[in-house]
Amino acid sequence: MEKITAAITAIEGYVPETVMTNDDLAKIVDTSDEWITSRTGIKERRVLKDRPTSDIGYEAVTKLLKKTGIDPLDIDLVICGTVTPDYPFPSTANVISDKCGLKNAWSFDLIAACSGFIYGLTVGSQFIETGKYKKVLVIGADKMTSILDYEDRSTCVIFGDGGGVVLLEPNTEGLGVIDSIMHSDGSGRNYLLQPAGGSMAPPSHETVDQRLHFVKQEGKQVFKFAVTNMAEVSAKIMEQNNLTSEDVDWLVPHQANLRIIEATRVRMGLPAEKVMVNIQRYGNTTAGTLPLCLWDWEKQLKKGDKIILSAFGGGFTWGAIYLKWAYNS
Ligand code: ACO
Repeated sequence: MEKITAAITAIEGYVPETVMTNDDLAKIVDTSDEWITSRTGIKERRVLKDRPTSDIGYEAVTKLLKKTGIDPLDIDLVICGTVTPDYPFPSTANVISDKCGLKNAWSFDLIAACSGFIYGLTVGSQFIETGKYKKVLVIGADKMTSILDYEDRSTCVIFGDGGGVVLLEPNTEGLGVIDSIMHSDGSGRNYLLQPAGGSMAPPSHETVDQRLHFVKQEGKQVFKFAVTNMAEVSAKIMEQNNLTSEDVDWLVPHQANLRIIEATRVRMGLPAEKVMVNIQRYGNTTAGTLPLCLWDWEKQLKKGDKIILSAFGGGFTWGAIYLKWAYNS
């Protein structure tokens, strides 16, 4: 029997229209364009107003269905990576499926913070590889501004809203997801988390007064883990697949910090022109960063291109995927 791989056969993204620049933030908190740019590489981010995370998915999926001409009833499964779901339950994937008329699909959310998209892609690929599923949507979407504390300058300047979706379909030419390495280390919850709102600390006047429903991060600690682990796992997946830096056409890194991206690039021995970077325009959109990169670069990608996706996020979670691009646009 021919080996079936899961290939990305279409991509779409969505970012809200409203732009918040570093100078806009400097009017709210004690920060500056110079600090944010030099420490993170971010110049501006998008803000989704009066709409939930599911609408990021809805916009992206609607565009993807229109572009490909696929009948919404032909979608089998929807996986949505997010840490800013519309509700604790039902899942945002359920809501997106309803809004997009994906009546034959089953759907679920996946929480892996900034690794949400690579986790989702790894999980979604398995369903295609079994041969049972033909059309799987993997979404990475976050409305990070819904959990940002605009009194905490160390976190509110980093994040933004946006996301995207890929369609996975079976491939028998050896294209698509070839390999993945995924990790988690739950002790990382001490450094990056949303402390309240779950069963640990259900919502109360106290949790609201103490601002515990917002993202809390010990930036320096997270930075150390992120730099080491994202670079290591990216180098490991190259080694495991006998890829040299010449072989790799593109690195698609999670967009958390330009310095972490740079460390990963150097560890992999890649020239800067092979690395997708759009952090300056969108900031860190958590599960949204990787599909937004692929969306922005889609026209430059060629069938057979060897691509490494890598990410690091809250949990801690991290990992890398090696895939071969499956189409020319
Ligand atoms: N403007 C001005 N000064 C600031 C700001 C700001 N926005 N934020 C912090 N500072 C100050 C601090 O108060 C500190 O001042 P002090 O020395 O007087 O105490 C100084 O700048 C240095 O602060 P650090 O936190 O040490 O700054 P650092 O260089 O580490 O940069 C950053 C902070 C950008 C958050 C960095 O640590 C980082 O990128 N960490 C990793 C983020 C990441 O990868 N997260 C994982 C994915 S996110 C997810 O999964 C949801």
